[in-house]
Amino acid sequence: THSLYQDAIDILKTNDRGTYSLPTQGLYPVQFNWDSAFAALGYRFINPVRAWQEVQQLASSQWPDGMIPHIMFRGHHDGYFPGPSIWKTGQFTPTSGITQPPVLASVIRRLDDTHPLDDSIEMHDMLRRLVRWHEWFIVARQEPQTEAIAIIHPWESGRDNMSDWDSGMARVEIADLPPYTRRDLDHVDASQRPTKEQYDRYLTIIKYGRDHQWRQDHLGQHSPFRMVDPGMTAFLLRSSRDLLALLQKHQPDNQAALSTVQQHIESLDRGWKNLWNDKVNAYTCYDPVEQKHINSVSSASFLSCFAGVYEEGRHEKLMGEFDRISNKVKFMVPSFDPDHADFDAKRYWRGPVWHVINDSIGRGFAEHGETERAERIRADSEALITQSKFFEYFDPITGEGLGGKDFTWTASVYLDWVM
Ligand code: DGY
Repeated sequence: THSLYQDAIDILKTNDRGTYSLPTQGLYPVQFNWDSAFAALGYRFINPVRAWQEVQQLASSQWPDGMIPHIMFRGHHDGYFPGPSIWKTGQFTPTSGITQPPVLASVIRRLDDTHPLDDSIEMHDMLRRLVRWHEWFIVARQEPQTEAIAIIHPWESGRDNMSDWDSGMARVEIADLPPYTRRDLDHVDASQRPTKEQYDRYLTIIKYGRDHQWRQDHLGQHSPFRMVDPGMTAFLLRSSRDLLALLQKHQPDNQAALSTVQQHIESLDRGWKNLWNDKVNAYTCYDPVEQKHINSVSSASFLSCFAGVYEEGRHEKLMGEFDRISNKVKFMVPSFDPDHADFDAKRYWRGPVWHVINDSIGRGFAEHGETERAERIRADSEALITQSKFFEYFDPITGEGLGGKDFTWTASVYLDWVM
């Protein structure tokens, strides 16, 4: 019989474009930043050389200012909207003008553990790019009040239509946009995707970036949309710890890089702790314009262990929230609190389960001795794939597979963690 293991391998092969991968055919015919990093973990099970190509191809798209962008338009990408003519970023390989969660350093550390590169010059180049990207986050995205990381477009978070962004999105006054056709709705039912009004705002923010030549330090302070994201903060903090370990191993004499990354860790550690919100007993999103926390729990709230932060007292309260949610849904971890009025079990990041977030929360829990809760997440992830196969996201109540099918990062995480 055809095993799930073989299905996962077949998906990775089908979505392989030689030196980079697509998240899925049809819906996302382009290289995405964090999808690509997660893909590399899966390609190790086929060919470690191919895994390194994936991440090197991703890092090679770094902008002169240090940003590694969220989309790289390579090969045939005509089915994707918005394409290069909307972004107009002027890069040699066309890219979008925003970034995505920095999981790359964490992935590189894991590749280096199991299949180190033979070529130390290539490793040196990778580490230099990672330090520059992380430094870019501090310069262009760190919010001074909290020291946590802000996003200037919901797409930067990778968690596009979170209810956490709603108040920030409401401030975006929809521009006079030329008529456009969404391509996502050719592939996925509208009830599982962001709304038209959200798309109008997504495109309005892009217009602002374009009108300001994608000057990222300016956008960090003046984009019409700005919110402080626990997800971005946790991923950058974890990646910074992994980058420090890589530097200690490969460049123990590089004092400049070591102390830069050490400072990032200290600052982001304070940043994460500043996202603690007593009203809901969790680390939450923060609105830098109104200078207040958003009072809702999302899956990103549970990334604290993964980020390497353990605060006595707070940790127990956070686990209480985790258990409350565990009792509400069949499959952990829903992207948004099922007890909240904005919860929507099928709509993208307003409720569904996403395997890459499960992987990160689960690994963090396991590392911090939360063995039972980690196992609940792993077992639920496995049950979802057994029931519904390798979808983009899943209904946490029924387990129905949603969004794109035969999804690269779902297959990768299955090979790497779930099975
Ligand atoms: C999409 O096209 O929906 C992507 O998530 C944007 O980043």
